[in-house]
Amino acid sequence: MTTDFDSVDYFTDPSLVPDPHPYFDHLRAKNPTCCPINNGVLAVTGWEAANAVYKDTENFSSCVAVAGPFTPIPFTPEGDDITAQLEEHRTAIPMYEHMVTMDPPYHTDARSLLSRLLTPKRLKENEDFMWRLADRHIDEFIDDGRCEFLASYARPFSLLVVADLLGVPEEDHEEFREAFGVQRPGTNIGGLDHEPIAANPLEWADEKFVHYIEDRRKNPRDDVLTGLATALYPDGSTPDVVDVVRTATFLFGAGQETTAKLLSAALRVLGDRPDIQQQLRQDRSLIPVFIEECLRMDSPVKSVFRMARKTTALGDTPVPAGTTVMVSPGAANRDPNRFDDPHEFQLDRKNVREHIAFSRGIHSCPGAPLARVEGRVSIERLLDRLGDITIDEKKHGPAGARSYTYEPTFILRGLTEINIKFTPIT
Ligand code: HEM
Repeated sequence: MTTDFDSVDYFTDPSLVPDPHPYFDHLRAKNPTCCPINNGVLAVTGWEAANAVYKDTENFSSCVAVAGPFTPIPFTPEGDDITAQLEEHRTAIPMYEHMVTMDPPYHTDARSLLSRLLTPKRLKENEDFMWRLADRHIDEFIDDGRCEFLASYARPFSLLVVADLLGVPEEDHEEFREAFGVQRPGTNIGGLDHEPIAANPLEWADEKFVHYIEDRRKNPRDDVLTGLATALYPDGSTPDVVDVVRTATFLFGAGQETTAKLLSAALRVLGDRPDIQQQLRQDRSLIPVFIEECLRMDSPVKSVFRMARKTTALGDTPVPAGTTVMVSPGAANRDPNRFDDPHEFQLDRKNVREHIAFSRGIHSCPGAPLARVEGRVSIERLLDRLGDITIDEKKHGPAGARSYTYEPTFILRGLTEINIKFTPIT
């Protein structure tokens, strides 16, 4: 059955989930700068235009960044400038409390708390933790010679890296694994494998962090949580506990699933492309560019959204204030005007670092350095310890006729599972 791309519903049609790229190509061929799709949304699929929208915070607000046209906006946009309306109703817009939906000047304050956390010293300590953590996870499954990689490695690894970054004491890590439903194999007594113990893990983490931050404000120690608890805004004022907590816990939401998706996409390439696996085994210095090409080919964030707050234009298309614009890193990263043979995985792609998987502009991902190191450390240790990594044919079919399933979401792109086999290296 062929899909009619002009009438398909991007936001709900499951036929676009396994491979959204023919659809993105179709939109880009019609107009890379601005192509109307359903739900009144304008899609930006070209690299050049995507960059321009990301950087134009004067005309575009991030208030709908995550849910796009499904964000309930509590007012009817009026006139050519809705800035005042937006600010009046800001706190009634879902997720307003998270920096990803904020605009300056509030966004500037929220980011400043983060920069206190993401110091070169902290990132170095966090990397040291990652090497230990990678080995700890591999120890859990190596003797089996096979694993479902997302549950056994990618999800718990990316969760605990964020926990360590935030200074969650190691004795509490198991509790975080349980709350987020990524327990050690065999310890999830009576539960379904990925069923989180906490009904809403982010709310659970919020409560946990209120406790940590209040405690560290009363009893400062020499630890990361104390640094976070005592950080001030640029004007010298002290943030409310709840604002510090939101900044901290949002990192779990933003940094866990995205990185797990990157790691699983990378494993798929290793399994499906033995030639590339061999090249990486022979020359580990290729791992960073391998990670970049994985980010370009399978951008974990498929789409983000903006709302025009002033009447403006995208190319020749007028964009009235209040219009939702979808800027798709997944599509832009396969723009043939920027990347030669964009649908091919090339380890020697010269301009691979021009991909925008981490977005651009003031909201560009502050976790990018972390995600890159997570990728490098993981691939390095997996290649050190797992010989001849292959895709489990019983689960995904033989080479040339593989079957993979992707999560049914219009926001993210990621495998639901990836089963691999390997020979333990002793
Ligand atoms: C491969 C992994 C990751 C990808 C592909 C990714 C992608 C993105 C993208 C595209 C945005 C921009 C959204 C926008 O422009 O509206 C973003 C924002 C953000 N990311 Fe990441 N991210 C990843 C990992 C992480 C990690 C590990 C962390 C932190 C631990 C993190 C924290 C954040 C935060 C806090 C924001 C909001 C920034 C702001 O609004 O100023 N991300 N990420």
